[in-house]
Amino acid sequence: MNHRAVVIAGGNSVQLAKKVAKRLRASFTPLHVSRFPDGESSVRIQVNVEGKAVIIINALYPQANEALMDTALAIDAAKHAGALSVNVVVPYLAYMRQDKVFNRGESLSAGVMARVLDDADRVIAVDPHLHRIHQLGDLFKTRAESMTANGALASYVQKHYRNSIIVGPDAESYQWARAIAEQVGLQSAILTKTRFSSTRVAVKLHGHVSIKGRHVVIVDDVLSTGHTVAEAAKLARRLGAKRVSCVTVHGLYVDDAVRLLKRAGVKDIVCTNTTTSKFAKIDVSELIADAL
Ligand code: R5P
Repeated sequence: MNHRAVVIAGGNSVQLAKKVAKRLRASFTPLHVSRFPDGESSVRIQVNVEGKAVIIINALYPQANEALMDTALAIDAAKHAGALSVNVVVPYLAYMRQDKVFNRGESLSAGVMARVLDDADRVIAVDPHLHRIHQLGDLFKTRAESMTANGALASYVQKHYRNSIIVGPDAESYQWARAIAEQVGLQSAILTKTRFSSTRVAVKLHGHVSIKGRHVVIVDDVLSTGHTVAEAAKLARRLGAKRVSCVTVHGLYVDDAVRLLKRAGVKDIVCTNTTTSKFAKIDVSELIADAL
């Protein structure tokens, strides 16, 4: 991408998009979004993008549904305005945990989300929750790539939590936890999780790992309601951990999540700036700019 590129920020990624634009030496403009009284969205690109490579950056959190629709409308707006190419960066890609029809009568929502964004020439996501779907390209018809913030998380862990043990709170998280532990040269452990509902989970330690007196760093891709990390933290404390921190790629901190984490004994809460919060201490703008 060169100076003829225009970075357009959706409402959920303004700060991150500014950083990416600066790194790319591209121009920056916020997407103008308004809502009609009946709730419909209307978007407007406020600069001329004719003949230019457009990069739309918008995380699908908060308000996943509105953010998805705003992004889809922005893709169409860029095409109508004569953009040379339309690249969409979705720092946090929602709907990825609904990657199967779990119960009869449900939708395969990850596929529906992909179809909404398929009009773009290219879609890039940071650490999408790839579990049953192994690569993002399998979900989209257009060119779709995922990139991982593992390196950035590993650097943070190395700098701040050098003598810790990395714990993945469930089988799905272990791909992140193990990769980070290996990069930093730390021991890792995995828990098994049983999910009873969105807000009720139970975890158990897998194998013989000594936690007593250790600094436990819980690593996961998504922290949503906080129940997974909170249960993992409680278990670590029961097993004698002297300190518990949590580092996740995406921090949603839904409802009472932060209070829940604190009550469970989590001392530090850290995530990347794929979403916006005061805990977003790990910057992924370089990762995104490099991918573009
Ligand atoms: C699920 O498999 C993910 O890796 C996370 O563990 C999950 O999304 C966390 O959700 P919550 O914070 O609501 O427990």
